[in-house]
Amino acid sequence: GRKWTAVGSVTPEMKDQVVLIRGRVQTIRPVGKKIAFVVVRERGFTVQCVLTVKPELVSSQMVKYATSLSKESIVDIEGVVSIPEKPITGSTQQVEVQISKLYCVNRAVPTLPINIEDAARSEVEIEQALEKGEQLVRVNQDTRLNFRILDMRTPANQGIFRIQCQVENIFRQFLLSEGFVGIHTPKLIGGSSEGGSAVFRLDYKGQPACLAQSPQLHKQMAICGDFSRVFEVGPVFRAEDSFTHRHLCEFTGLDVEMEIKEHYSEVMDIVDRLFVAMFDSLNEKCKKELEAIGRQYPFEPLKYLPKTLRLTFAEGVQMLKEAGVEVDPLGDLNTESERKLGQLVATKYGTEFYILHKYPQAVRPFYTMPCHDNPSYSNSFDVFIRGEEIISGAQRIHVPEFLEKRAGECGIDVKTISTYIDSFRYGAPPHGGFGVGLERVVMLFCALNNIRKTSLFPRDPQRIAP
Ligand code: 4AD
Repeated sequence: GRKWTAVGSVTPEMKDQVVLIRGRVQTIRPVGKKIAFVVVRERGFTVQCVLTVKPELVSSQMVKYATSLSKESIVDIEGVVSIPEKPITGSTQQVEVQISKLYCVNRAVPTLPINIEDAARSEVEIEQALEKGEQLVRVNQDTRLNFRILDMRTPANQGIFRIQCQVENIFRQFLLSEGFVGIHTPKLIGGSSEGGSAVFRLDYKGQPACLAQSPQLHKQMAICGDFSRVFEVGPVFRAEDSFTHRHLCEFTGLDVEMEIKEHYSEVMDIVDRLFVAMFDSLNEKCKKELEAIGRQYPFEPLKYLPKTLRLTFAEGVQMLKEAGVEVDPLGDLNTESERKLGQLVATKYGTEFYILHKYPQAVRPFYTMPCHDNPSYSNSFDVFIRGEEIISGAQRIHVPEFLEKRAGECGIDVKTISTYIDSFRYGAPPHGGFGVGLERVVMLFCALNNIRKTSLFPRDPQRIAP
């Protein structure tokens, strides 16, 4: 096979070398009949290629042929790397390829529903272009999602989904190094796992069933099965009614469950070390991706501490109170007060990532362990990035009689989860865990404003295609 060079790795240091690249035609600009500039893009990176009529090498027909290619067509180009005479405006890479061969591998249709260059502009760039009177189409979210495979080609989106992959990768690597075992639990289950109404119900060969709202019950059963420490990466289904910037009907859950020897802070220790390692690694290994995202959606890097701040729910309520926000000390925080608390914490402690623990028992799911010294509170926690929740976790009840009682009190039909409750009758260790929403982590790490930006093919109350 011939040696191929990635578009993103053509650098000025390669001057005078012959390279072979494959990419998409982003733009073609003819200059008279003898020269054409072809900008080629691959995985979010672009390089300018120049076609100049030269005896025996490039004919004027070839220039004509090149200018007839439609945008987004796939082309193979062979040419010599050179340094442009005049700097290329708007490009970070001051390098060109002098084309000697050009083949079209596959043509795109002549009119595209999304112009990738328009879709890749930042809000500021759009404003500036409009002021200058440039022809430009503002690409809205629905159009982007309807034609997601085109939208995916922008440098920012190329970055977002590479970051997502890295988050998942670090989650696995870190937990494997801590002695956790990766498992897979069923997504077709007999009853709701988190309670509430947000369940997709279905008919399972004549039996009522639903799509799993989380791996909660089965990951705990794996602990009863002596696995000690488990994790799972898998789909989670929520029949959300509300249409918000942070809820999907299907998202990717990163779940953890582990034995607790003495205190539920052991679970928070894992959260702390896992996420600090994750943020460090993203900042270090994904610089290009973060830059690409920031060019379209400018954002400040996440502020976090080497040792994650932990506040109790009561302390949070107090901070809000001092700032003039009254909240129910035994209720839940709403989105607005969570955001406000996030701002207060950032100002006071210099971090946008923190753990809030010891939540009121009444607002947590039935399986949550109450605090032994004050049963109005629970051994549970939420974790926030930039004032929005990315994780919830807790110690679980491992005593079957108590679990049964709590399920009943929370209005759950105990019969539908009898195999779960029975699992605790054969010797079950104290344990706890947490669940992370992958799309939310990426959204909030990059300060994006909508979870649909971090889901490749989002499923929300109004969208089940493409
Ligand atoms: O807070 P949730 O519902 O907690 C559970 O599922 C528990 N079983 C977790 C545990 O182990 N205690 O969901 C966990 C995380 C949330 O913090 C959020 O990041 C994400 O999942 N999440 C959603 N992400 C996108 N769309 C939705 N509709 C989400 N609902 C929850």
